[in-house]
Amino acid sequence: MASKQVRQEIAKLREELRYHNYRYYVLDAPVVSDAEYDRMFRRLEELEAEFPDLVTPDSPTQRVGAPPREELGTVQHRAPMLSLQSVYDEEEFRHFVDTVIAEAGEEVAFVGEPKYDGLAVSLVYENGLLTVAATRGDGVTGEDITDNVRTIRTVPLKLLAPDDVPVPEYLEVRGEIYIPLEQFRELNRRREQAGEPLFANPRNAAAGSVRQLDSNITASRPLSIYVYGVGAVAGYDFASEWEVVQALPRWGFRVDERNRVCGNVAECLDFYRHLAETREQLPYEIDGIVFKVNELAVQARMGTRTRNPRWAVAYKFPARQETTRVEDILVSVGRTGKLTPVAVLEPVEVSGVIVRRASLHNQDEVDRKDIRIGDVVIIERAGDVIPQVVKVITEKRTGQERPFRLPDTCPVCGTRVLRSEGDPITRCPNIDCPAQIEGRIEHFASRGGMDIEGLGEKLAAQLVQSGLVTRLPDIYDLTTEQLIGLEHMAAKSAQNLLDAIATSRQTSLPRFLFSLGIAHVGEHVARLLAENFGSVAAIAQATPDQLAAVDGIGPEIATSISQFFAEDRNRQVVRDLLQRGVEFAETEAASDALVGKTFVFTGTLAGLSRDEASAEVQRRGGQVTSSVSRRTDYVVAGSDPGSKYTRAQELGVTVLTEEQFQELLAKS
Ligand code: IVH
Repeated sequence: MASKQVRQEIAKLREELRYHNYRYYVLDAPVVSDAEYDRMFRRLEELEAEFPDLVTPDSPTQRVGAPPREELGTVQHRAPMLSLQSVYDEEEFRHFVDTVIAEAGEEVAFVGEPKYDGLAVSLVYENGLLTVAATRGDGVTGEDITDNVRTIRTVPLKLLAPDDVPVPEYLEVRGEIYIPLEQFRELNRRREQAGEPLFANPRNAAAGSVRQLDSNITASRPLSIYVYGVGAVAGYDFASEWEVVQALPRWGFRVDERNRVCGNVAECLDFYRHLAETREQLPYEIDGIVFKVNELAVQARMGTRTRNPRWAVAYKFPARQETTRVEDILVSVGRTGKLTPVAVLEPVEVSGVIVRRASLHNQDEVDRKDIRIGDVVIIERAGDVIPQVVKVITEKRTGQERPFRLPDTCPVCGTRVLRSEGDPITRCPNIDCPAQIEGRIEHFASRGGMDIEGLGEKLAAQLVQSGLVTRLPDIYDLTTEQLIGLEHMAAKSAQNLLDAIATSRQTSLPRFLFSLGIAHVGEHVARLLAENFGSVAAIAQATPDQLAAVDGIGPEIATSISQFFAEDRNRQVVRDLLQRGVEFAETEAASDALVGKTFVFTGTLAGLSRDEASAEVQRRGGQVTSSVSRRTDYVVAGSDPGSKYTRAQELGVTVLTEEQFQELLAKS
C-alpha cells in the first residue's frame, strides 16, 4: 500500500509536469531546465513503477503508444463537425460579409484565424480528462483516434484549472493536427535515408500518422495541434468566439497568437493581406483565413446550411500552382548515393517565387505520372521549398516529347548504378563517389558509427573541399599541420579531433558495419549481421540467400549488402580502414529476438503474473496486446486458455506454453 505521502508526491509531480509540459510544448516558454524536467519525470516513473496501482491514464508518463488495433472504431459527434464555404477573391468575400450583415440585421465583428492545412479533430474532455479524440469523418460519425492523439505533446491529457476559468463538465474542443514544415522536411529526409517512400506534403503526413492502427508509429511522428473552437459544451457559457479563443489556452490548449478580432470588412481584408504576405515565413502550412462571426448569439440566429454554417467562411489564398514546360530532365546524385531525376522547368513565378526545377523523386514516379521531356505540366509549391510536378497536361502533347530513363551509370563517377527488387531508389554503390563523400564522412563519424566527436557536416565539407579526404581511410592519415590549415581550426581543436579519430579505431563490429553506410543497414541490421556472421570477411562472402536466412534480414536488405561487397572499391575501403588500425572488441551476445514481436496472453500463468510477464516482454523490446490478429507473433497460453487460444489456432499464430515462453525469455 502506498502511503499518503507517496500519493501526495505523485500528485504534486504530475501537477508540476503538466504545467511544465504546457510551458514547453504549448507556450514554447519553459521555466525549468530540461534536466530539471527530466529529473521530475524520472522520479514520477520510479514511483509509478513501484506503485502500479496509482498509474492513471492522465499521468504525464502515459503518452506512450498503446498496443496496435485491428481497426479504428467510430465516434458519433454530439454536435456535427461542419465544413466551410470557400471564397477566392475580395469580391466574393465582400459579398459574404454583406449577406451576413443583411441577415444579422446589424454591423458584426469577425474573428479571423489562419486556416491550417492538416487534419480536423474533435477532443472530448469529461471533467477535465481527455476521454475521446476523433476525426471529422463525414461530419456526423468520425474515427476513434484516442490512443494516437494521446501521444501528441501539445494535446492536454488533463486540463489546467485556473480559478477564474472553471473547467466545464463536458467540453468538446475542435482543432487541426498538423506537422510543422521544418519537422516535415526532417521526417522526409529520414525516410529517404531509410529507403522509405516520401510523404507528398505535410497534410498527408499528418493524416497518415494520426490514422495509424499502431499508436507507437503516431508517437514517432512530429505532430502538433492548434485548436480553434468548441463543439458541444456543458457547464460553461461562452458569449463569443473571442471568449472561446481566450479560454482555451487557459485550460492548456495551444491556440494561435495570430488570431484576430476584425471589426469590419476593411480590417478583415487587412488581416488577409498581412497573412498572405507572411505566409511563406510561417512555420506551418495554411491555405487561407477562416472568418467567423464573433457573437455566438448572432451565429445561432443565422444558423447553418446542410454542411456549412452561414456565419463563417474560408477566404482561400491563391493556389501555389502554375503551368510550365519540362525543358529537360537531369540526374542529381545525393549524399547517400541516390540518383534523383530533376525536371528543368521553363522558369515560372509561383506566388512570389521563381521556380526553375522540380524533383521527380525516382524512376517509378516519372513512370507513374508519365512525365516526358517537353511536356506541359502543372507544378505546385506545397509544404516544401522544392516544388512538385502535380500532373502532365496530356492534351498539350505534340508528339515531340521524349520519355526519360535514369542512366545505367552514375553521372558523377561512372560506376554502374544499382536498384534492388521492390526498392524505388536507384543508387550509386561507389563508396568513393565524389558526390557522396561528404555525406559518407558525416555518417561514418556519427554517434552510431565510429563516433568521432567534432567531425560533423561542416568539417566533412571542409575536409573534402580542401582535398584532404577523398576516401574514408584518409581520415586516419590526417595530421595536425593539415588540420590547422583549415578555417576555424586552432591547434587545440585540431589535437582534439586527432585524439577523437585515434580513439575511434577501437570500435565494435556493429558500429563499423553501420559506419560504412550500406543502404538499408541501420544499427539494428548491423548488430544482426555481427552476431550471425562474426566478421566483416564472413559477411562480405555471404550469398544473398545466406544473409536473408537471418531472422530480421529480408531479401531487399540482403541484396543491398551483397551488392555493396561486390564492389572492388568498397572492399578496398574496408581493407584500408583495417590496415589503419581499426579493430573490434567482442560483440556482446545480447540477442534482440523479441524486438518488435507482439505477444498475447491467455489463461492463467503459474510462475509469474500477467503484469510481470508483460514487463519482461517489453523490457526485451516486444509488445503485449489484448487481442489476437494476424500480426500477433506469439500467443502464450496458461491454464484454462480462452477464445484467444482458438483464434490463434485459426490464424496459425505460434502458441507457446508457459515453459516455452520462459525459455524464450531466458534466451533473449
Ligand atoms: S472552423 C464551422 N477554423 O477547415 C466551422 N476550421 O472546411 C468549422 N480548418 O475541416 C471549422 N483551420 O479542419 C475552422 N481556424 C480554423 C481552421 C479550420 C483549419 C479546417 C477544419 C475543417 C475545415 C473546414
